Amino acid sequence: MSNTRRQWIRNVSLATIGLAGAGKLEARNRIEDWWIDETESDWVRIGSNENPYGPSEITAREMAKAIKASNRYPREVSGSLRKALADKFGLSEDHVLTGAGSSELLGVVAAYAAIKPGNAVAAHPTFRLWFSAAERLGLTIKSVPCTTDKYHDLPAMKAAMNDDTRMVYIVNPHNPTGTVLGDAALRSFVSDASQKSVVLLDEAYTEYSDAKTLADMVAGNKNIVVAKTFSKIYGMAGARVGFVLAHPETIAKLSAYMPWANAGPSAVSLAGALAALTDEDFVKMTRRKTDETRAMVAASFRQMNIPMTQSSTSFLYYDCTALRQNLDERSEASRISGVRTFENNTPWRRTSIGTMDEMKKFIKVVEGCRA
Ligand SMILES: Cc1ncc(COP(=O)(O)O)c(C=O)c1O
Repeated sequence: MSNTRRQWIRNVSLATIGLAGAGKLEARNRIEDWWIDETESDWVRIGSNENPYGPSEITAREMAKAIKASNRYPREVSGSLRKALADKFGLSEDHVLTGAGSSELLGVVAAYAAIKPGNAVAAHPTFRLWFSAAERLGLTIKSVPCTTDKYHDLPAMKAAMNDDTRMVYIVNPHNPTGTVLGDAALRSFVSDASQKSVVLLDEAYTEYSDAKTLADMVAGNKNIVVAKTFSKIYGMAGARVGFVLAHPETIAKLSAYMPWANAGPSAVSLAGALAALTDEDFVKMTRRKTDETRAMVAASFRQMNIPMTQSSTSFLYYDCTALRQNLDERSEASRISGVRTFENNTPWRRTSIGTMDEMKKFIKVVEGCRA
């Protein structure tokens, strides 16, 4: 790929994350494949928090078997997955809605919250994929800066809420910063905030940390929606399976934004997700290897005096101020795609935790940037 093309890709991705650029992403850009650099097979892909170990063998085997059932709409397997998820979280099936990845469902929840014009309160930086849909539907995003140690600033988020707030978005553990909120503080915030608006809790990375799910709060509160995904710890990002847990009345309302309830994932992906839930060894192995590799990267960063947040996830958020060379360019030149920016004009970058070999290659590039 030409340098101009790469530069253009970087500009597009910066435009999508820039505060000033919020909502200005044109349809032309959205259909361009700006991940194209990652699809070249010899690149180290540590930019999108993918699980380098997945899917598990059990999952892949069940997916292969399910190909034959692809001539039918996947009603049975969809029901089985919802039942398995309901059991896992101590709920009944009518509390579960599946989608083609949780990002699809974040958009559905934003559409539901945008029934009246108003605002949505979110941290800055945060995971922004639903912002564009929300803004087009009439929600203004109220971005509340994270604390200096890059946690959601819950008191400031509470203060930012007003009568026009339709949704509050919390990611725990947070992407891109990796920080985890204390259970009691988060529960108390969610209880309060949900008196006024929908609270969307994104738990894409919970299984990588000791954070507890808030799934137990949804049965008694119609305004709380918990979003989860098979893309991360289960290693199935390409299969596109995510789900939300909410009160049955809320699930019924959310499903009205789909052609039919649970319409998104394919028969093959659903069969994979169902199998993935049974493979606890794979989940444990992923977490163990991610923890070990993250500890190795963190130790190297400490040696190089690179500040970073306290991450309990499959990525690190770190401050490149001490580097004298441009890490973004140096990584790209070494065919590593993984140095992502989530704020304008900031030295902070997010990089996913790949395999030990991939991360050693990355560390070498970081070391080279100090000279
Ligand atoms: C915080 C967060 N939420 C949701 C998602 C979406 O995951 P998917 O659409 O693959 O389920 C991601 C993916 O990176 C994420 O980081």
